Amino acid sequence: MKNRVFRGDSIITFSISFFSSFGQKITIPIETQNISLVLQTDGKGKQLKIIHCGNKLKDISDYEVCRDVFNLQSEGALSNNNAFVVAGIDNNFVEPAIAAVHVDGNNSLDLRYENHVISKTSEGANLIKIVLKDPVYDFYVDLFFKAWENEDVIEQWSVIRHTEKGSVTLNKYASANLYFFNKKYYLTTYNSSWAKEMQPVQMQLKQGVHTIQSRLGTRENLLSSPNFMLSFDNVASENHGTVMVGQIAWNGNFCMEFEIDVYKNLHLVAGINPYQSSYKLEPGVNFETPRFIYTISFEGIGKASRNIQNWMRNHNLIDGKGDRLTLLNNWEATYFDFDQNKLVSLFDGAKELGVDMFLLDDGWFGNKYPRNDDKAGLGDWEVNRKKLPNGIPYLIKEANKRGLKFGIWIEPEMVNPKSVLYEKHIDWVLRQENRPEIYFRNQLVLDLTNPDVQDFVYNVVDQLFIENPELAFIKWDCNAPIFNGHSKYLEKNNIPQSHLYIEYTRGLEKVLKRIRKKYPKVPMMLCSGGGGRTDFSLFRFFTEFWLSDNTDPLERVFIQWNYSYYYPAITMCNHVTNWGNKPLKYRIDVASMGKLGFDIRVNELSDDDLALCKKSVDNYNQFKHIIWQGDLFRLINPYKDDFASLMFVNPTKTEGVMFTYLTNWRYVADTSVRPVKLQGLDPDKKYRITEINLYSNQHSPIDSGKIYSGDFLLKIGINPVINLSRPSVVLKIQAL
Ligand code: DGJ
Repeated sequence: MKNRVFRGDSIITFSISFFSSFGQKITIPIETQNISLVLQTDGKGKQLKIIHCGNKLKDISDYEVCRDVFNLQSEGALSNNNAFVVAGIDNNFVEPAIAAVHVDGNNSLDLRYENHVISKTSEGANLIKIVLKDPVYDFYVDLFFKAWENEDVIEQWSVIRHTEKGSVTLNKYASANLYFFNKKYYLTTYNSSWAKEMQPVQMQLKQGVHTIQSRLGTRENLLSSPNFMLSFDNVASENHGTVMVGQIAWNGNFCMEFEIDVYKNLHLVAGINPYQSSYKLEPGVNFETPRFIYTISFEGIGKASRNIQNWMRNHNLIDGKGDRLTLLNNWEATYFDFDQNKLVSLFDGAKELGVDMFLLDDGWFGNKYPRNDDKAGLGDWEVNRKKLPNGIPYLIKEANKRGLKFGIWIEPEMVNPKSVLYEKHIDWVLRQENRPEIYFRNQLVLDLTNPDVQDFVYNVVDQLFIENPELAFIKWDCNAPIFNGHSKYLEKNNIPQSHLYIEYTRGLEKVLKRIRKKYPKVPMMLCSGGGGRTDFSLFRFFTEFWLSDNTDPLERVFIQWNYSYYYPAITMCNHVTNWGNKPLKYRIDVASMGKLGFDIRVNELSDDDLALCKKSVDNYNQFKHIIWQGDLFRLINPYKDDFASLMFVNPTKTEGVMFTYLTNWRYVADTSVRPVKLQGLDPDKKYRITEINLYSNQHSPIDSGKIYSGDFLLKIGINPVINLSRPSVVLKIQAL
């Protein structure tokens, strides 16, 4: 992007850091390939306003007149489109982005444009920093915008700072404040609970404020997700309409407020949830807020999600362009009931399947309080000598002997009251001393505001790698929210308890940063009693995530569908398990649409089933690069039809994989009557289509001898022949 900055009529196409002249408007376009967010000062007072958010205009001087064509003159609503709405002054009655109490007790704020700087980050993004200042107090807000040209993604955050003579109390501190001038707004958000993650709810926003938030401390995705989708004017579909897809990337209490104002415009404020979290900010300290991340597509939701997925793989995911490991996990095969011999016998199953790794789940640790169920042992990270007399090194050796890598489960932020850790370090536990403890899955959360606890958590991981340099993978679980929000560490250090939620999340990030410094690429799976913890902030440290404990493949079609709007398939761990009553083939096909794993007892499979698993792992190894790095196209929406169909296409459009799943098991389901139009292919290429993942005695109605033009497949399509006896179909698409 060329830095298109202009003042008055004169366009300045290079970076400008300071405008000193009064009386002239300063216009700051923040642009990517297709999106434009434009801020502009008013002439006199240097109030910074949002004057445009949406389609990029061809001629940037046109932005100059954006403000004039809207009539925002309603008394009492003159500040609604301010770039960072303040509390306490300035004719403002909409939701503030910031509220503060100054050293002298005054609780008003006024923010005026000071200067702005445009630069390029080392990764090639355009970084725009705008400094706002209170004319009366030495109080500043720096607004940051990181614009990714090719991916059409904007990351937005604020830094709050002051040089007053004492501490300022922040009562609200948003990352982002946006304003849209459309006529209608349709919001999709997601309700969740255990095993029911990412259930979409869509509504038209009406005048007033609609708030999406978490107050759980950890596991922010447990009840409601930080993801959202916003359609402008009409409900966007996969390939049509204007839609914003985004997230507040904070793995703690978040809050997003969608407010329709008197003009029927939308004012959006997103950031850390200020719930129970007023923050004392000392002079000279920067309060950096988390990133609010979004894309806007003018060609429907499909394009928006491909933007976000590309951005993730390119800029916000550990090893986003790298490889991942297929695996056999023992959680559902054994739960806590295993010993050394049983595990080693499972390794043989993993070898038979042909997967890359064995993942040992919960239950391997604790001696005084053995971890034989979820009531004891959490926190005591020493190997259970009774179950595993030869320790982890022996298991790794046995796995390696069979050509398998070895990974391990941990949940290092948590503690069972029945543990040596709790007995020794009760002051490390978040708990209210004068009240009964409240448990979630029989456990409590450790106090990550405390640097000693941060060291402890870091060392759990570090020790595992020091003792087992061959260890290839970590599954990091987090099962409890913060129910007992009191920190002994903050108390002892005279820090307000209202810093707890914020400092917990910062403490976790510090630990993860340290881990990544020493172990930059080792794959780590983010898990939280299912998918209770998924956000962009944590993918700076993790390679993949566990979407849900619900692995019933029918439910999974919907869960994976909804997550796919936000996360690329390379991050999605899908395991074949015994949940639900669907055929093995259906379970494998659904799990193949991401990062394939198994959690079954391989020795209980029939010969035919085992052969299918092996063949499917082989097939997966051949097409996984398309799923991990290709573009995703959603073809048939299971919320609207009786089946789901999706396809992935590689960047050169020479290979694709199409997955189709029956979702309505009724005889009357409308499935195989008509073809499904494909997407993402080259109309000028010729393609061969072959059905894969079949039992050896299964005949396919798809004739792999036929050649189709891309044009035909895009305009007419292919019929995967989905029905009750063929409830899932995987088709490989190859250009000749
Ligand atoms: C919750 C996770 O979601 C499961 O996959 C499993 O790891 C259990 N915890 C182990 O306690």
